[in-house]
Amino acid sequence: MSSRRTTFVTLAAAGLAAAVISGPSLAVAAPDQPGTPRYGEGAAGAGDPYFPLAGNGGTDVLHYDLDLEYTPPAAAPAPLEGHLAGVATIDLLATADLDRFNLDLRGLTATAVTVAGKPAHFEQVENELVITPRPKLKAGTSAQVVVSYGGTTTRPTDIEGALYGWVTTRDGAMVVSEPDGSATWFPVNDHPTDKSTYSFEITVPEGLVAVANGLLTGSTTEAGRTTWTWDAPDPMAAYLATATVGNFVLDQYTAANGTPIIDALDADRPATAYADLALTSDMLVFFESLYGPYPFNSYGAIVDDDSVGYALETQTRSFFSRNAREGTIAHELAHQWMGDQVSPERWADIWLNEGWATYSEWMWDEHRGRDTAAQTFDEFMATPAEDEEWDFVVADPTPLGLFAGPVYDRGAATLHALRVKIGDDAFFALARTWLERFGGGTAGTRDFIGLAEEVSGQDLDAFFEAWVYTPSKPASW
Ligand code: ARG
Ligand code: ZN
Repeated sequence: MSSRRTTFVTLAAAGLAAAVISGPSLAVAAPDQPGTPRYGEGAAGAGDPYFPLAGNGGTDVLHYDLDLEYTPPAAAPAPLEGHLAGVATIDLLATADLDRFNLDLRGLTATAVTVAGKPAHFEQVENELVITPRPKLKAGTSAQVVVSYGGTTTRPTDIEGALYGWVTTRDGAMVVSEPDGSATWFPVNDHPTDKSTYSFEITVPEGLVAVANGLLTGSTTEAGRTTWTWDAPDPMAAYLATATVGNFVLDQYTAANGTPIIDALDADRPATAYADLALTSDMLVFFESLYGPYPFNSYGAIVDDDSVGYALETQTRSFFSRNAREGTIAHELAHQWMGDQVSPERWADIWLNEGWATYSEWMWDEHRGRDTAAQTFDEFMATPAEDEEWDFVVADPTPLGLFAGPVYDRGAATLHALRVKIGDDAFFALARTWLERFGGGTAGTRDFIGLAEEVSGQDLDAFFEAWVYTPSKPASW
């Protein structure tokens, strides 16, 4: 599903060297211009300046059905490498006349591709799976694309060197893919602007549990292998999908707001690692009072005994490394609204995710009788103007600064300052209107500023200039 027009440019324009793509010349479909080809290639990227090859143009994926067969590493001292064999059944819509289109796939090998039931030619060029459908796909038609693929799983890292994607562990895998790690485990339009529904059938050795997004719809064991099936019918950005495998115990209950909870708790951790999860139910009630109804069919936590060094707001099932602590539990739960229901239009908009999730922690602290949000703001503002912390453009953090401190704390301070400026009524109306208007899709900083002005009736250009576009400490706003 796509909430915006998909751009249609050449592979070369998207930054993929034309020289490495064999085949006919790179043509752009231009149906209005006689004499130029009608069919063309879908772009190799969704057009995000930070990650030019993430996602693709010319297609809109509606649904991924991922049938995964996974074998974790043999006992130590064997290397930390697993084996993954997958069949991805992808329902997509052509948004342009396509004689070729791409999916993102990294470190795994495609072995067969069909489009609308017909075998399709394909090749892998770096992290792009280039598919040539025959017959060609006309704009507006839907097609089922089936990709068989597989290979050895390792421990991929992002551009900062942090573990992400399908991270192989001794007893399974931790699967957390922000921002562009989904391509390490399935063929995908790996950009938030193409949200889709998902279903999963994950087969693992008997005794292990595979945990994905949404509701558990079954598990069956045969010949020493268990297949876990999950259904995630709410639109989801690819980076929020998971299929984490481990030695988990599933804990299921219903929260006070009625949301079904499925926690996956690693049997190899002490109960103290999970104690704070008892607050989840109260937090759901609290955040619903701020933001409106919890947006998805279920919630829960995955706590693995291994670590990627951070937690992630995987949709409906937040991921925690080793321990789930109160502040982080509040943060990842708040992301379900702010980041998951409405996702970044461009990765440069990440402060809208992290600022809201961090500000939600501040408000939860106040609700619990600790520091008020105003006190936390004042502490943050005590940082002297000379501090290099202020030398940061929140709304353009650069690809290596996506998860830098100011994205979180100055992002949160921006929201608190905005709340003081426009008043509580306008501020919380802004939060709810944001979710109503852009829920199920994506939105960016300019959308946020526009909506804040609309809801408050104030001109907020100078405010946002000082807070998110200027690399110095805001002095007046
Ligand atoms: N969004 C996550 C959080 O704020 C952080 C993800 C960090 N990811 C990474 N690749 N370093 O909880
Ligand atoms: Zn976060």
